[in-house]
Amino acid sequence: MKITNEQNDIDYVLFSEEQIKTRVRELGEELTRRYNGKEPVVVCILKGASFFYTDLCRQIKCPIHMDFISVSSYGKDAQSSGIVKLVKDLDNNIKDKDVLIVEDIIDSGLTLKYLREMLSSRKPRSIRTVCLLDKYQSHSPEVATDMKGFNIENQFVVGYGLDYADFYRNLPYIGVLKKECYE
Ligand code: IMP
Ligand code: MG
Repeated sequence: MKITNEQNDIDYVLFSEEQIKTRVRELGEELTRRYNGKEPVVVCILKGASFFYTDLCRQIKCPIHMDFISVSSYGKDAQSSGIVKLVKDLDNNIKDKDVLIVEDIIDSGLTLKYLREMLSSRKPRSIRTVCLLDKYQSHSPEVATDMKGFNIENQFVVGYGLDYADFYRNLPYIGVLKKECYE
C-alpha cells in the first residue's frame, strides 16, 4: 500500500482539533478533581493513545507518573483478531498505586478487559480507565470505561493517534476512513 496524501482517504472529519482539545481539557479537569492529593500512575496504551495521552497528561494538574504498555490485537485488519498479546509491559511496579489506563478507542472491549484484568492482578490501590472514543454499540455494558471523550457509531476512524495499517496516525483530527481504503 502506498499512500501519498492521507487527507484524500478521509470521508469526513468526525472531531476537529478544536473539539478534541476542548474535550481533553474537560477530562483533565475531572481527573484533576478525582486524583486530588494522589499521585496516579497514568498508563498509555501504545501506539494509538499516544497523542491523547500526552495532551491529557498536560491537563491533569496534580503530580503523576507516566508509564507505557503495548498490546496488539488488530494486525493490519480493520477487524479485531480477538486475540490480545502483550508486546511491551510497564516499566514500574503498580502495587498499591492508583492506576489510570488511557486508551484511544473501545470497540469489542477485549483490549480493555484484558488490560484491566492483567493490571488488577498486580494489586494496585485503584484502577480506572479513560478512553477518548467509545464505539458504545460494539461491546457489552460490562466492559464500559469509567470515563470517555466521545461516543461514536460503529465506523472505522483514523487520526490523532488512531491508525489503519499504521498509517494516518499523524492527522491532527479524527476522521472516518473511506470504505474503499480498507475493504
Ligand atoms: P477492542 O479490543 O476491539 O476494543 O479494540 C481496541 C483497539 O482496536 C484500539 O486500541 C484500537 O487500536 C483498535 N481500533 C478499534 N476501532 C478502531 C478504529 O475505528 N480505528 C482505529 N483503530 C481502532
Ligand atoms: Mg491500534
